[in-house]
Amino acid sequence: MRDASPQTVYLADYTPFGWKVESVSLAFTLDPHATRVRCRMTLTPNPGAPKQDFFLHGENLQLISAKIDGQLVTPDITADGLRCAVPDRAFLWESEVEIDPANNTALEGLYMSNGMYCTQCEAEGFRKITYYPDRPDVMSVFSVTIDGPHPVLLSNGNPVSTSEGRAEWHDPWPKPAYLFALVAGDLVAHQGSFTTRSGAEVALNLYVRPGDEGKCAFGMEALKASMKWDEEVYGREYDLDLFNIVAVDDFNMGAMENKGLNIFNSSAVLASPETSTDTNFERIEAIIAHEYFHNWTGNRITCRDWFQLCLKEGLTVFRDSQFTADMRSAPVKRISDVIDLRARQFPEDQGPLAHPVRPESFQEVNNFYTATVYEKGAEVIHMLKTLVGDAAYADALDLYFTRHDGDAATIEDWLKVFEDSTGRDLTQFKRWYSQAGTPHLSVTEQWEDGTLTLAFRQETKPSAASPAPAPQVIPIAVGLIARDGSEAAATRVLEMDQAEQSFTFEGLAERPVASILRDFSAPVVLDHPMPDADRAHLVAHDTDPFNRWEAARTLARKSLIAMITEGAAPDAAYLDALAAVVTDKALDPAFRALMLGLPSQTDLAGTLDQAGHTPDPARIYTAAEAMRDAQAQRLADDLAALHSDNQVTAPYRPDAEQSGKRALANAALALISRQDGGARAARQFTDADNMTQQLAALACSLRAGNGQDLLASFETQWKDDRLVMDKWFSLQVIEAAPDEAAATARRLTEHPDFNWKNPNRFRAVFGALAMHHAGFHHASGAGYELLTDWLIRLDPVNPQTTARMCSAFQTWRRYDEDRQSMIRDQVTRLLDTDGLSRDTTEMLSRIAAA
Ligand code: TRP
Ligand code: ZN
Repeated sequence: MRDASPQTVYLADYTPFGWKVESVSLAFTLDPHATRVRCRMTLTPNPGAPKQDFFLHGENLQLISAKIDGQLVTPDITADGLRCAVPDRAFLWESEVEIDPANNTALEGLYMSNGMYCTQCEAEGFRKITYYPDRPDVMSVFSVTIDGPHPVLLSNGNPVSTSEGRAEWHDPWPKPAYLFALVAGDLVAHQGSFTTRSGAEVALNLYVRPGDEGKCAFGMEALKASMKWDEEVYGREYDLDLFNIVAVDDFNMGAMENKGLNIFNSSAVLASPETSTDTNFERIEAIIAHEYFHNWTGNRITCRDWFQLCLKEGLTVFRDSQFTADMRSAPVKRISDVIDLRARQFPEDQGPLAHPVRPESFQEVNNFYTATVYEKGAEVIHMLKTLVGDAAYADALDLYFTRHDGDAATIEDWLKVFEDSTGRDLTQFKRWYSQAGTPHLSVTEQWEDGTLTLAFRQETKPSAASPAPAPQVIPIAVGLIARDGSEAAATRVLEMDQAEQSFTFEGLAERPVASILRDFSAPVVLDHPMPDADRAHLVAHDTDPFNRWEAARTLARKSLIAMITEGAAPDAAYLDALAAVVTDKALDPAFRALMLGLPSQTDLAGTLDQAGHTPDPARIYTAAEAMRDAQAQRLADDLAALHSDNQVTAPYRPDAEQSGKRALANAALALISRQDGGARAARQFTDADNMTQQLAALACSLRAGNGQDLLASFETQWKDDRLVMDKWFSLQVIEAAPDEAAATARRLTEHPDFNWKNPNRFRAVFGALAMHHAGFHHASGAGYELLTDWLIRLDPVNPQTTARMCSAFQTWRRYDEDRQSMIRDQVTRLLDTDGLSRDTTEMLSRIAAA
């Protein structure tokens, strides 16, 4: 139901809860439509809190009874909770409520998925389970009893007792309610074990539905690797006898770090070579690590309030990228992270949804699980580490864990740890947490008498969230490459803290080529004019792998922009530089595959917009296609060898080495398919014994126009595998021509397996449509209209997923008048929908306010 007047919550209004919850016992009697939840908790007045009414959150609950110290009471019930008179001392609160998990389609609170019960409580889902102070700074010790006719009954912590139809759990670690979890169902366990550094045995289980047992081995190994890595790198050990992971098909996001009982979207944990791509394997490994790492950064140290979300998310994303860098290739991981940041965070930071890494107000907290909080939040920690150095970072983290273990902490606490352990003043650095927007960093060079001067200027466009941005501390990693390709100076980190600032490099024998913002040392847009020949020199010789890749990407971007705006031909110098690197067998195949990539069409639209041009999606599409053809032509003599030399003959392993080879071979196949009508791709499809090879071949064939039969045989082969069928749905949209993207998506919605209430399936079609730049932004407006039809349908069922998908419209101000007015019409149509959720209303109002 739509709130009459959506309430805005402000960081500045924080006040502690008036009571402490000494301990809480929950008893569940499971029933699809009438689950009973009894809650008993001892509350004591919190001496540090201002006087306040006794208020417990609660939504969609049917109160059966409430008691204080055993006496029935009659609280005032509202749509968001209850109020009750309470004694001015410690007391026992008891309540019983009834809930309806089978009708809970929002997938928040206790709900059912394929006959199993599961929960999702972050951020504010626990209030749909029982009346409770549902805020992260209220931490308590939970005991849970579950009654239900299911073979598997799980909750957080350690098992106390299990018998037929009943299980009791106790979690000794005080935790906020958002980390509560319960699972009940007919599940099978894939078992493992881990011995901690101090010798404790931990039982590990990955629970899946019968039939999915064969997709657990990789996740289990990733979990063990994560546990070991956190001990070795951060000195963090696991702290319970048991660690459970459960795979669930209906889930709004990737996974959730509930204490001792992580719940995963099945797409984020189930893997097998036949059904998962190399990219899937890498993502699964990273998500398992991410959720496991939350045990310390999130659970043992949690957030005081939801404004501090980046305290756990930014840090945990940073930790999981360090893990992936260690397990696989650090340069490849860094480049992939920057591609992702530009694809998802830059548009957010440069549009109407821009908000600081630590926002200061919101209406619906679910709308702030964003690329800015997560990925930019991680970039801020990367900068902090670059500024203080590796050793000081390690010391600061040790201090953070000892000082704040058991706390619900803030960003102020986090920065204070760094200040205390390094003696640095981080007042100005803190702007990275409080200011929205992507800084633009421009640099000009001056060369005189063996001295190179770099003059920098930083500027952040004002936004609604930050109307007057001030200069930020920007660590700029710079190296110098000599004319002969050797290093004229090793990496030096410049610390910029003014709007304009110059730095000099002295005593140079000749003018070098400057390699600026190495390793992407700050999340900024860099404008560093230099001759194309110098850029090509960096492509050939930069010793920083990120900047070597970035130099090629910049040449590609420049050439594409010239093709779009001036009808220029593809830049031959770029193609030559590319060919030299891609055919260099001394280089990692994964890196060479990344070199072959182009900036996405959305990314190009952003670049055009920032430069004051109105992006035309059709022209961008045509230019990108022409550039692909040019790559294929320039590399024509090498492609067959690139494809065949990088075939893996050893048994399939999803590791960095094999997946790098497959990535390069399949990048070559994509170019080959532009020239052979898809013949080789069709052969690869038939020969493939793993999903990476099969899916790449199918994509190439669809592009080349000979894929329809393969599509049908793929469907026959995989119709019973939900996760593979998600790929089948999305690939057709991804590979559709711009004129056909919306029609393809519409046709897929008529497929009997288009189960739109399942978020994975909905996103397979509509996430793909929103990402098809030229298809979604087609001049007909068909993409806008179709997405809107379906968002209107989904909103009453699942507001959280609907609201997230509204971000497809966030870049609307970039486009021409016609497109803007078509989008405005659709956004208005959505906003005018009766009963629109608070989630979706907030997203659309922010987008429309641009
Ligand atoms: N904390 C989770 C993570 O970082 C993400 C999360 C937040 C989530 N809200 C959610 C997951 C709702 C699923 C559903 O991994
Ligand atoms: Zn997380």
